[in-house]
Amino acid sequence: ATLLNYVEPDIGKFKRPKEQIDEIQKRLDEFKLSDEILKQVMDILEAEIEKGLNRSTNSEADLKMLPTYVCQLPTGKESNDILALDLGGSNFRVLYIRLRENEQPIIVNKVFIVSESIMKGTGEKLFSHIANCLYLFMKNHNLDLNRTYPLGFTFSFPCRQLGLSKAMLLRWTKGFSCSDVVGEDIVATLQRYIDARGDIKVKVCVLINDTVGTLMSTAYYDRKTSIGLILGTGTNVCYIENIDRIGTLDPFDDLDQKQMLVNTEWGAFGENGSIDFIRSRYDDEIDKTSINIGKQIFEKMVSGMYLGELVRLMILELIDRELIFVEEMKKNAYRHALFTKGSFYTKYLNEIESDSNTKFTRTKRILKELAGIENLSNEDCAVVKCICMAVTKRAGKLVAAGLAVILKRMNRAECTIAVDGSLFRYHPRLQAVLEKTLTNLVSSLNKFKIALSTDGSGRGAAVVAAVAAENDPIFK
Ligand code: GLC
Repeated sequence: ATLLNYVEPDIGKFKRPKEQIDEIQKRLDEFKLSDEILKQVMDILEAEIEKGLNRSTNSEADLKMLPTYVCQLPTGKESNDILALDLGGSNFRVLYIRLRENEQPIIVNKVFIVSESIMKGTGEKLFSHIANCLYLFMKNHNLDLNRTYPLGFTFSFPCRQLGLSKAMLLRWTKGFSCSDVVGEDIVATLQRYIDARGDIKVKVCVLINDTVGTLMSTAYYDRKTSIGLILGTGTNVCYIENIDRIGTLDPFDDLDQKQMLVNTEWGAFGENGSIDFIRSRYDDEIDKTSINIGKQIFEKMVSGMYLGELVRLMILELIDRELIFVEEMKKNAYRHALFTKGSFYTKYLNEIESDSNTKFTRTKRILKELAGIENLSNEDCAVVKCICMAVTKRAGKLVAAGLAVILKRMNRAECTIAVDGSLFRYHPRLQAVLEKTLTNLVSSLNKFKIALSTDGSGRGAAVVAAVAAENDPIFK
């Protein structure tokens, strides 16, 4: 996508009084990030990265810079039949992957629902549900229930790892808040629930973050891959770091290894107030009404779980000030969905931003659905479009600033950035803003390529699990 396809409506040409136009513009400007501000954000992020990598400052760092124990990119020689689980975003999946040297991997997967009551219920409910889905999948796909399969768990939450198969949950993020799980070893817990069933034999060999899966699955085809980015329900990045710069790693026995993937958990950036100067009152409100107040500040400005809500809050502010929908609001529109938290889906942003500035067909349809507003004026549509564009642009620029810091840090001549996540996948303008900003921010000596990753939680988890299984006598 190129930015030329997206034309920002010109509010300055509106027929309404100039004071009103200024009032609207003032609010849109709260989302603007100048190059100078972006550079400032980069400096702060860089300092946070250092703080997170340093043993003596890690406890107070926003970015936890977690060691992943993944030290090698896939070779393409991995071979095995692997099960994988993918938990952490908008859905939960069970996968079966057949890896063979010189053959395209075969992947079968099934999506299962994780209901709101499981996401916010007890750990016991969550893990017995996962084990049960695994059983159903194996039975329905006629897997040999007497054979012990290796399993790779893509678990997209921050974990303090002590090895590939030891991972303590540090905190829940996104919409999850299951009780009695934080602080537990997720691998051991899942293993216990699988074993307790008695009807399947599965060994949980590895736990990886989704960013790691994304990087690994792209590296399977492209050896220059050295960053894995998720822009979905949440946001996060992992990259290849030199082991001698990871101060939090206990003396590492595998001396052959010089590098390791580090999971930055950059969604937590800003928790110490360091980026308050770029936050708006809408960001503040998102945070105050969330289930993790004060946490994941950067994630709340950037990721799919929040962008739609940011737009909605700003629309409400303009309604309140009688700057849009003035006539419509006299007709009881308050009763409509638009006034309920979460009703403005993030997918609307792309629909509205790509809408035509003369017809606004999609914008009108969406607002009719949400607020019961018929025949919305083009001017009001234009305002809504400008809000969406401002929110997207800020998100794209912030992510680009973060990537620029990491590219600079790795200082490679060429680097492929593997990306996955629903927000990135279905929002071409966000992709375009990100790419353009990143090109402006990095030196031409650090060439980068952005590659949409396919099936990180399948192929990515499988290649890591295959290597682990090879060294495990239980599978011999
Ligand atoms: C959240 C999680 C992180 C994950 C990201 C993307 O930020 O804490 O582990 O990678 O979402 O799913």
